[in-house]
Amino acid sequence: MRRLKSIHGEWSSQGGFFLAATGAVVGLGNIWKYPYIAGQNGGGAFLLVYLVCLLLVGMPLMMAELLLGRRGRGSPPAAFREIAMDEGRCRPWAAVGIFAVAAGLLILSFYSVIAGWGLDYMWMSARGEYRGLDATAVQGVFSRLNDEPWRLLFWHSLFMAMTVAVVSRGVRQGLERASRLFVPALFILLSVLGLYAAVEGGVGRAMAYMFEPDFAAIDGKVVLIALGHAFFTLSLGTGTMMAYGAYLPDRVSIARMSLWVVLADTLAALLSGIAIYPLVFAGHLPVMQGPGLVFTVLPSAFGHARCGDLFGTLFYAALVLAALTSAIALLEPAVAWWVERGKSRAKAALWVGGGVWVLGVMTILSFNIWSGVLILGHTWFGLLDMLTGNLMLPVVGLLIVIFVGWMIAGRSLRQELALSRAAVRVWLTVLRYVTPVAMLLVLLNALGLIRGGI
Ligand code: TRP
Repeated sequence: MRRLKSIHGEWSSQGGFFLAATGAVVGLGNIWKYPYIAGQNGGGAFLLVYLVCLLLVGMPLMMAELLLGRRGRGSPPAAFREIAMDEGRCRPWAAVGIFAVAAGLLILSFYSVIAGWGLDYMWMSARGEYRGLDATAVQGVFSRLNDEPWRLLFWHSLFMAMTVAVVSRGVRQGLERASRLFVPALFILLSVLGLYAAVEGGVGRAMAYMFEPDFAAIDGKVVLIALGHAFFTLSLGTGTMMAYGAYLPDRVSIARMSLWVVLADTLAALLSGIAIYPLVFAGHLPVMQGPGLVFTVLPSAFGHARCGDLFGTLFYAALVLAALTSAIALLEPAVAWWVERGKSRAKAALWVGGGVWVLGVMTILSFNIWSGVLILGHTWFGLLDMLTGNLMLPVVGLLIVIFVGWMIAGRSLRQELALSRAAVRVWLTVLRYVTPVAMLLVLLNALGLIRGGI
């Protein structure tokens, strides 16, 4: 196949790509999910299982997505169509790309509302609003916030505006520049917060919670949890890595970059745990995950700790930065697709961002005015969360694995990966036989069709 060129430009260097991709993978999941699932499921033993899942399933799949993107040099639908035609496969494979892009936009629509919570908490924290409050009182703060659609709308709009502003500036001036600034800032903030938490106490229990290995806790269910999280945390199945791969210079090693990104993602997850759990234990607060942890438990921890206003503000700033660098990665594939069809980047970013903003408004309403409206037993927010995470992403992941593992000629793969024959063979064997089974299990588990019965 002749070498294509991306019409969107390229990352300036492998460092630029590394920071952008790290920004894309490090998100809310690293902060509010990993430390908890590790703590609940065997600590250090879970970490080991999780690392195996990352290296055996996550990394090969990330390589597959990057490879597709770089070979097709375009947005996910365009890259899929280009490669399918070139390999003599049928065009409808492009539908996988479209499906991936759609999943990304749906996720962005509620990610932005959650990031909006983060902005509001940053502001409250800076004003010392939850100083001295206990967990029940903070619970009240959170439900009051969700009872105010206009307030949620304000922050959601601000966050979407920032996301659109970055994406409309393009690959180098927008995505890469923002990542060069925000990703190091995020890691510095997490480290500072980790040190602060260590000084405030509770560190021993937090370390034991996250790292003390309990191998007896590992069973089929725990492996499925680790697999599912490894997949989600690497932002696979949304076309993001395909789009980011399309801007990867030819000479950069896909395997090496994937490994670094996986390591950076894991580092962020561990740092988050070290920043969060000492405070939780020191304050004798309930151990939780997700929004409950970040928006009801932690404010009360910061509300009682020394200089809690300052460090609380820094914590929510870190959360917002993590969300922002993921949000631009969720918006980019759709925008790139439209640009390829002749739209100017600024207009495409504005219109797609506007559409996502409207969807986000539905999420906002589902917290208050529409909280009684249930679709298949879920609110709009619950439905989107479930539909994307449990269905769309694993399906896309599975189809990508099948496409790259079985539909592309070995010669093309070798050319793109530029690894030794033996290394490509190992990767391909894993991609053909291990990854699809793992993805299928993730899917069946997410759909509730297996209950850890393996
Ligand atoms: N990996 C992100 C997290 O850990 C969430 C996510 C899933 C994502 N798919 C994505 C982010 C695609 C950006 C792009 O929270």
